[in-house]
Amino acid sequence: MSTATTTTATTDLRLTPAAGRIGAIVHDVRLGGELPAETVAAIEAALYEHKVLFFRDQQHLDDAGHEAFARLLGHPVGHPTVPSADGRYVFELDATKGVRANNWHTDVTFVPSYPKASILRALELPPAGGSTVWANTAAAYQDLPEPLKVLAESLRAVHTNDYDYAASLALRPELADNAEIANLFRQVFVSTAFKTEHPVVRVHPVTGEKNLLLGAFAQRIQGVAGADSKALIALFQRYVERLENTVRWDWQVGDVAIWDNRATQHYAVNDYGDEPRLVRRITLDGDLPVGVDGAPSRLLEPAEPPRVAGLVPAEELETEAAEAAKVAAAQAAGAGAAVTVTADRG
Ligand SMILES: [Fe+2]
Repeated sequence: MSTATTTTATTDLRLTPAAGRIGAIVHDVRLGGELPAETVAAIEAALYEHKVLFFRDQQHLDDAGHEAFARLLGHPVGHPTVPSADGRYVFELDATKGVRANNWHTDVTFVPSYPKASILRALELPPAGGSTVWANTAAAYQDLPEPLKVLAESLRAVHTNDYDYAASLALRPELADNAEIANLFRQVFVSTAFKTEHPVVRVHPVTGEKNLLLGAFAQRIQGVAGADSKALIALFQRYVERLENTVRWDWQVGDVAIWDNRATQHYAVNDYGDEPRLVRRITLDGDLPVGVDGAPSRLLEPAEPPRVAGLVPAEELETEAAEAAKVAAAQAAGAGAAVTVTADRG
């Protein structure tokens, strides 16, 4: 595989392409909160160009270092419904506890301002399998024949976290049969049912590229009934999943992957049986999508939106959380332990 060097105005990154249309391995960078600004700028530029970046040998990163690095690229946000693993922003995906994300999706698209990027680090891996595949949704749009581009640009899709989650359990019958796990997952992950209308073609706010915005949370097309709605989603989603538009990453412990969540979908391959697989993710606050006509995404449900990520700016949430923590500490020092539940679903 050849090695290419991307040059920015201020610094160089040594990159190796990971596939033809998406993905690059970044060499010689030690991730953390102390990275110089020019390196951060180069990483951001590479991220927008390649959509997903891979960094090997980042074992030094702990949750705090993960968050410190994340803050150089944006503002961390928690999951809208699932409690964090560290009481802050870390979303843990533990295959032994949760449902596995073996479907094509963009993280958290059931809220309007879904995350702009995700940063995932691998802590424990199965002896074989457990890789992740990313797809380039800008390339998928570009692959569409002209009449389908016109059609896609005219459509709006409803994304929800309250879909037939039981169907997604079908590939793991041992979990589907476990009523306790299935109920717990539903209670936590769908503790608030969100419905959001997004354009099917989102204009990327940084690159200006047009991206197909679909994935597993997209459940129907506005104004199109039942089977036709599903057929339209399947038609466009097929372009996203074309192998030519994907990169598959075989994880090693210590790897970090960063993806542009506004320009990709991903799929966690569930081929490792009962072996453990533990990864931790921090997502960065996103912005309100717009279609090619400039019309923004909008929340349809619930009628009284909770104050959560994707609906309220991260800075406001952080201020509120700090104040709430102060009040809680004053009220009850040493009260009951928090219960943390993880769900492997972005
Ligand atoms: Fe995900």
